[in-house]
Amino acid sequence: MRTDDDSWDIKTSVGSTALFVAAARALAGRAPDAPARDEFAELFVRAAGPEWVDLLEGRAPEHPLLTPDFGAQFQQHQIARTRYFDDFMTAAAAAGIRQVVILAAGLDSRAYRLPWPDGTVLYELDQPQVLAFKRNTLTAAGHKPIAERHEVAVDLREDWPKALREGGFDPDAATAWLIEGLLIYLTPAAQDQLFDAVAALSAPGSRVAIEQMDPLPAEAVAAMSEGDDSGSEWVSMIYNEPRTDSTEWFAGRGWTGQRVRLTDYIRDLGQTLHSAGPQQQSLISLVTVTR
Ligand SMILES: C[S@@+](CC[C@H](N)C(=O)[O-])C[C@H]1O[C@@H](n2cnc3c(N)ncnc32)[C@H](O)[C@@H]1O
Repeated sequence: MRTDDDSWDIKTSVGSTALFVAAARALAGRAPDAPARDEFAELFVRAAGPEWVDLLEGRAPEHPLLTPDFGAQFQQHQIARTRYFDDFMTAAAAAGIRQVVILAAGLDSRAYRLPWPDGTVLYELDQPQVLAFKRNTLTAAGHKPIAERHEVAVDLREDWPKALREGGFDPDAATAWLIEGLLIYLTPAAQDQLFDAVAALSAPGSRVAIEQMDPLPAEAVAAMSEGDDSGSEWVSMIYNEPRTDSTEWFAGRGWTGQRVRLTDYIRDLGQTLHSAGPQQQSLISLVTVTR
């Protein structure tokens, strides 16, 4: 169960979700028609230990990421969202934005992977031990970021705007913000606080990209909770409560934006939906708002 001030490393609690989604990206990116690729995902997953190497090398056929229902759907979800947020960043850079903030960066490799224009400064916020795993892995492999990358080791339920400013963030410069795979790990109140902070730090021209998920139906939660697998563990980490709709929240403050259902987005990418799995995919939306 979660508490208001819990913390974690890359293998425990919410930190382990960063590894899980990176593994999904690594596996999904192998498909010839994958809509995106994250060549750093495999590096992180391999560094996490032998059980993760087994997953990548086909020695863990029972792993949840490889099941024909949940696994296939989850991989499809992850790689589609990678594409959506890659495109968001590329468009922001093309529009002249040179300051980027990735909230709950986890094992996001965009600082190393996307063709950032010279002068782009990128901030990654996450728990200290998650950022340390990432830094150690990248340093050991000799990788250098393309953007000027700054780590801000912080809990996003605390005064992260202060830490971000102290890290060099310029509130007068337009910013591209990313909130991917985060909101369900925050209470609805913590989400509202996060949005307040993002809006307060956003100069005109700023943009925010968000993954949001509607609450799971009670029956789905009950069914998942009964198991003793990664599904029940995950359900115990999320706050499955009604929360502010991202697009409406920003629209109410004068921002403009669009929201697309993940399932529609996957179809728009020309992919066939894996419909055999749980209903989770249909609860997810991808949102872009601009000030
Ligand atoms: C599912 S992962 C997503 C990581 C990354 N955005 C991605 O999509 O690959 C969730 C991330 O949120 C981070 N996170 C969740 N709650 C947080 C909090 N209160 N403070 C800092 N980081 C948090 C976790 O450490 C983890 O890295």
